[in-house]
Amino acid sequence: MKCQVKESQLAQEATDVLVVGVYEGESTWSKAHQALDQALGGQLRELKNNGEFSGKNQQSALIHTRKALPAQRILLMGLGKKGEVTLDRIRQAMGTAFKNVRQIGAHAFSVPVFGTDALKAPASDIAQAMVEGAILGGYRFTHYRSENEESSKDVRTMTLLANRANQVSAMKSGVRRGEASANATWFARDLCNHPANVMTPSRVVQEAQNIAKEFSVKLTVLERKDQQKLGMGGMLGVSRGSQEPPKFIVLEYTGAKKKERPVVLVGKTITFDSGGISLKPSENMEQMKADMTGGAEVLGTVRAAAQLRLPLNIVGILPATENMPGGRATKPGDILRMLNGKTVEVQNTDAEGRLILADGLAYAARFNPRCLVDIATLTGACIIALGQFAIGMMGNDDALKADLKKAGEQAGERVWEMPLWEEYFEQLKSDVADMRNIGGRGGGMITAGMFLSKFVGDCPWVHLDIASTDWSSSERPYIGKGPTAIGTRLLVQWLINRAGR
Ligand code: BES
Ligand code: MN
Ligand code: ZN
Repeated sequence: MKCQVKESQLAQEATDVLVVGVYEGESTWSKAHQALDQALGGQLRELKNNGEFSGKNQQSALIHTRKALPAQRILLMGLGKKGEVTLDRIRQAMGTAFKNVRQIGAHAFSVPVFGTDALKAPASDIAQAMVEGAILGGYRFTHYRSENEESSKDVRTMTLLANRANQVSAMKSGVRRGEASANATWFARDLCNHPANVMTPSRVVQEAQNIAKEFSVKLTVLERKDQQKLGMGGMLGVSRGSQEPPKFIVLEYTGAKKKERPVVLVGKTITFDSGGISLKPSENMEQMKADMTGGAEVLGTVRAAAQLRLPLNIVGILPATENMPGGRATKPGDILRMLNGKTVEVQNTDAEGRLILADGLAYAARFNPRCLVDIATLTGACIIALGQFAIGMMGNDDALKADLKKAGEQAGERVWEMPLWEEYFEQLKSDVADMRNIGGRGGGMITAGMFLSKFVGDCPWVHLDIASTDWSSSERPYIGKGPTAIGTRLLVQWLINRAGR
């Protein structure tokens, strides 16, 4: 879909569908809405007065203009009460509007920026959110369907209308940011949707190669023998039970001066988590194809940053492997020596994410990072603690945590902080090694974070546990059932903020 911006009056706009945002419970109409209403012989007012369309959040109504206006149809989209409008509500409204537009088979739609009178946000940020909502609302994964009746329905153009000419250029840059962050999310969802027999560690390398070629980003892949040479005990231990070769993937985007220290992102990339010898129950095990969400999000984020030419240096690290119970698999009780020399007693092979991340985080130190963020579908305990709507956040640097919290609020992918107190390390003590890889029943998300903290040195670092948000069990306005790739826009927004754009 092409997204464009122009200055235009609603009543003059020629398009298949003109989407009009309406607040709930407003008795006065804007001039622009009045003009539409007049041309339509009072239909808008009538729909509102007789209670058919009240402007409630997520409510919609379609009106055929029958040549009373240059636009063929008007789609009224409820935004809820004016005082309750948020950027995320706007994203949600656009997600639903987009699905409506596509459903009726229209190819183009136009929409004025919503909520400029209700939100403090600049028009560029609203434009960004609107593009994100529309693109993500349109997400579908049909790669493996032989027949697809819906595929002919294809929205080709979205036009954002500016009320003032001097808004156009700011809105255009918002649109570019929205496209980059939504396309990165789309990309990450695709990677997680592909089944594990396709999306193997080797295939993830190919995806990284595509990004490297398209955006001149440097790619390094450490094969098993390289991992052995370096002593990546976590990578080697987790991959032992699998027939798929493990890959340690490093992408380097240089958007600033070469010497400038990079931001390093590490994403858990388990292309399938069976649990290994500590085998998972079979119910819902198919969802473990998405245990590579963190890695997919890091790839998507590097891609978006490169696309936007952010003036930053960014390194993306993806420790990629399956976790399988083969004959040579790591067994409970086995001891691994990690890249930083620490030893770990593996008491549960299903706590594999922290083992590969340990090597990923230790490797990150080689880049002398300005800061380090890891993102991972790490613990079931995160789902228990936070449900579906918050990402778990832990870390050692208040400023970095505050920045991620802010970006999360802007992106509508919010984080919630959990404590990382040294006391919790008690639970990770082993009788035979420096630590063990599980911490018992209490505080499972925290002990996982505590484990990781032993591999970051004193670099400013944040850990994001996305096990709570990575898979949606219900259809939401701009998030479908299945892999959500939530976290991608959070990271992209955080980098945009850092770049001062
Ligand atoms: N990938 C899982 C965590 C997970 C569970 C993500 C459900 C998304 C949905 C992780 O590797 C895992 O198995 N964690 C174990 C750790 C435990 C053995 C300490 C868990 O949470 O059960
Ligand atoms: Mn596991
Ligand atoms: Zn896992």
